[in-house]
Amino acid sequence: MENKRGSWGSNIGFILAAIGSAVGLGNIWGFPYKMGKSGGFTFLIIYVALAVFVGLVIMVAELALGRKTGKGVVDSYREVSKKFKWIGWLGIIAPFLIMSFYSVLGGYCLQYMMLNAAEFAFGVNNGIFADVSGGTTFGAMLTSPWACVFFTLFLMVLCYVIVKGGISGGIEKFNKIGMPALFVMLCIIIIRSLTLPNAVEGLKFMFVPGYAVNAGFISEAPGFISVLATAGGQMFFSLSLAMGVMVTYGSYLGKSENLVKNGGVIVFADTLVAILAGIAVIPAAVANGINKGMSVGEITLGGPKLLFVTLQDVFAEMGTFGPLFGVIFYALVLIAAISSAISLMEVCATFFVDRAVDKGKEPNRMKITFWISIAIMAEAMLVAVCGLGENGIAPANLLGIEVKGWNDCWLDFMDCWSEGVAMPLGAMLCSLMIGWELGPKFTLDEVHSGNKSAFFDKFFYICIRFVCPIVMAFVLKGQICDGFGLVGEAAGYIISGVLLIGFWIFAAVGNKKD
Ligand code: PFF
Repeated sequence: MENKRGSWGSNIGFILAAIGSAVGLGNIWGFPYKMGKSGGFTFLIIYVALAVFVGLVIMVAELALGRKTGKGVVDSYREVSKKFKWIGWLGIIAPFLIMSFYSVLGGYCLQYMMLNAAEFAFGVNNGIFADVSGGTTFGAMLTSPWACVFFTLFLMVLCYVIVKGGISGGIEKFNKIGMPALFVMLCIIIIRSLTLPNAVEGLKFMFVPGYAVNAGFISEAPGFISVLATAGGQMFFSLSLAMGVMVTYGSYLGKSENLVKNGGVIVFADTLVAILAGIAVIPAAVANGINKGMSVGEITLGGPKLLFVTLQDVFAEMGTFGPLFGVIFYALVLIAAISSAISLMEVCATFFVDRAVDKGKEPNRMKITFWISIAIMAEAMLVAVCGLGENGIAPANLLGIEVKGWNDCWLDFMDCWSEGVAMPLGAMLCSLMIGWELGPKFTLDEVHSGNKSAFFDKFFYICIRFVCPIVMAFVLKGQICDGFGLVGEAAGYIISGVLLIGFWIFAAVGNKKD
């Protein structure tokens, strides 16, 4: 049975693959821009606290659940829980929806990498690529839907080749080379970024409390609850939690491995890369803006523009070697995108592999991965052709309804349901199931097969039962109101409060064990 599913070749291989899943566009793009929007240093502190008290706890719980059952996300929840059997489906639908835009964004990185490579090879302003200023490039790319479809397809072919290779032969192999390479490239970009004149302003923005407001980057500091919700949502996405990935990866892990230590290393590495990515991106963007005579308030640190407009401008204005740094930067983002995308695909692949194994058949990974890739390509076409709403096929256009955050383009639509609803809801229900239906002992017994620590047991008990569900309710509220404007503030609190209390009672009442 074990052999039919496959397993990690080594613990370090597993750790690098899990770090690969965690380190993605969320770190290099989402973290800097959410930090930019949410007051710099305050966001950083809240983020780190949440990563320790919520992220690590859910990470260990998910790894333990996967390893205990030896199954993918849908079957794991079905096997252990009477009341929450169905939440595994949230953990497979969300990665499938995320892949619709993750693959397109990976395709954008591929285009930018090649543009910069051509620019470097043929010289700046060579007449072939007359203008690689970020704004022009981005606009041209969005309105060339078929080029976007082509590059998305290219990315999907790469992911297909890796995932069809299996756990140790594909995913582990890619990450063993990809992760160290990514780290080296990131260091090169950091050095270049920090040696730009005025880069220190960007560092102060990140690390000096209150500087973001005092220096005029943002007009006023957002409230605590709003930062908590933004940081919580970002932390979950960045650590690949509540999407079935850690349950799936845990199901291929040996019994003697130390889950707490592994979880700690993954959380630490992911947070470190997010901060390093911030140091690579923010000072460069700020320095370039100031050197062009912009006021700090005018510099774009938010949204898609940060990665594809502001940073492209930085490279375009660096002189002869600028495009080379562009190639390195977009290549590193591409590796990060691929290492995350393959983990999202693996959640779906493991589901079908388990089906075959259950029926006593030899799973045909190649066929499974092929059909998953086709299905993802079909939904990704919508996102690619839509061009962030530029090409008139956004959900709002098609339905003829008022344009809102969730329907202004297909990317936001997919993101709304996956990252906005399925992820926080799934995480809240997972912590209630583990903390109250099954009891913390369920996870701790599994954790103890690799190590035992009375301190961790207490820490886990309190966090999984109280801290995680409450924080997740705030994140859910934040996602459905602030992120997507689905409902007003008061309604957001009511919806998430009712869900929290209702499911809390549902999880806790009538269990035989405590
Ligand atoms: N953690 C990835 C990032 O930061 O970009 C994205 C991601 C991968 C989210 C896998 C969820 C997931 F299951």
